[in-house]
Amino acid sequence: MPVQPNRIKDILDRESAGGEVLVQGWVKTRRSSGAVTFIQISDGSTLSDLQVVVEESCPDYPLVDSLNTGASISASGSLVPSQGRGQKFEVNAGSLAVLGLADPETYPLQKKRHTLEFLREIAHLRPRTNTFGAVARVRNATAFAIHSFFQERGFQYIQTPMITASDAEGAGAMFRVTTLDLKDPPRQNGEVDATEDFFGRPAFLTVSGQLEAEIFALALSNVYTFGPTFRAENSNTSRHLAEFWMVEPEVAFCDLDGLADLAEDFLKSVFAYVLEHCPEDMEFFNRWYDKAAIETLNGIIESSFERITYTEAVRMLQASRESFEFPVEWGLDLQSEHERYITEKRIGKPVVVTDYPSGIKAFYMRLNEGGDTVRAMDVLVPRIGEIIGGSQREERHDLLLDRMRQAGLDERDYWWYLDLRQYGTVPHSGFGLGFERTVQFITGMQNIRDISPFPRTPKNAEF
Ligand code: 4AD
Ligand code: MG
Repeated sequence: MPVQPNRIKDILDRESAGGEVLVQGWVKTRRSSGAVTFIQISDGSTLSDLQVVVEESCPDYPLVDSLNTGASISASGSLVPSQGRGQKFEVNAGSLAVLGLADPETYPLQKKRHTLEFLREIAHLRPRTNTFGAVARVRNATAFAIHSFFQERGFQYIQTPMITASDAEGAGAMFRVTTLDLKDPPRQNGEVDATEDFFGRPAFLTVSGQLEAEIFALALSNVYTFGPTFRAENSNTSRHLAEFWMVEPEVAFCDLDGLADLAEDFLKSVFAYVLEHCPEDMEFFNRWYDKAAIETLNGIIESSFERITYTEAVRMLQASRESFEFPVEWGLDLQSEHERYITEKRIGKPVVVTDYPSGIKAFYMRLNEGGDTVRAMDVLVPRIGEIIGGSQREERHDLLLDRMRQAGLDERDYWWYLDLRQYGTVPHSGFGLGFERTVQFITGMQNIRDISPFPRTPKNAEF
């Protein structure tokens, strides 16, 4: 009798039946037929369940009545070819143990289709469903693919701070971090006195690790971050979270064209990895959530991304007969409806849009000749719109300082960032990939709240 439990995935990967196995997991369903009870269990190692067959002659047979959906069990027995359809093997139970009961009167996850909205309310149990198990496994594979891509190319993984005093995007959408007594904060001239606060100054949760990543790129050349970022913007959409993970490569001696090449290779490599390593989960999404999920990814891997400038994008939108909710005019930002129109309806594949107006982009982006536009790029994909935002960085000290002042930033807060342009500055570029948006795109899931295991959105921080 094996002492170590066997994971269901490993069992199902076996060439042939035979031998004794010990399986542990959660009951999906139970049904009886005459003197035999069939229990489907899952352990999350794979989408597939494993059937445990308990015959009346099994000494633990009296336990089967308590094995309701959600109960946890341990079963051992011989692995035999399955009689049922759709499964390779099953376990003929020699012994059974109930580890934890689940009362069928109150257990919220019953054997039926629950809505995704309902499942969000039970985020502590939804990982046990097929959908959320599959999301978790694809998320895991995507994270691994991201690290592999950069590690294979000699990028150093760096960790940037979550608590920061500077606004990396200059957009003011930051969560304040404080230990001051909110009922009675210390005051100085009527204002809250931040010098009394934990860090002796106002501090926030970071919106991006970019500025610190630049420090390391200007020393180690090629680096990337992969960590949580926070945005206090009141966006209640299917693609915004207040807390999400971002992947931010930063590359020295690289211009915007080189960065766009990197972004394209990167996305293709991540998609290919997931298709190869999660075939079963991807089939599941393709069947239940987006009938074109796999085909879309394969199409992207095989073709090259389109590249257009912002100005061309605006012309394209203006020439269209589409009636958009938001206005299209040179100088205004592209809205998600515009991005989707371009990538879905006009181009039909990912698009890299470059050279946005300087007035709508962050202070650190490199100014183009003439000063109207900056060397920004957004990568747009069907269904999601912007999945990557990046730029060549302004490496010229005086121009950067001008841009900061125009943006109304206090240059004293960014002295070290300016210093990098005083000492050994080099052309460099980087981008940020939204991790949840990437997994959302891969899986074809509609809502980013079903990609983050514990979504943080306005008025919602349960679990
Ligand atoms: O375009 P963003 O704001 O770019 C930056 O933060 C740069 N500092 C990145 C860099 O150049 N190193 O964000 C980058 C990506 C977006 O393209 C999007 O995929 C994702 O992060 N993102 C969000 N994902 C979920 N919820 C939100 N609220 C997001 N905001 C941005
Ligand atoms: Mg952006």
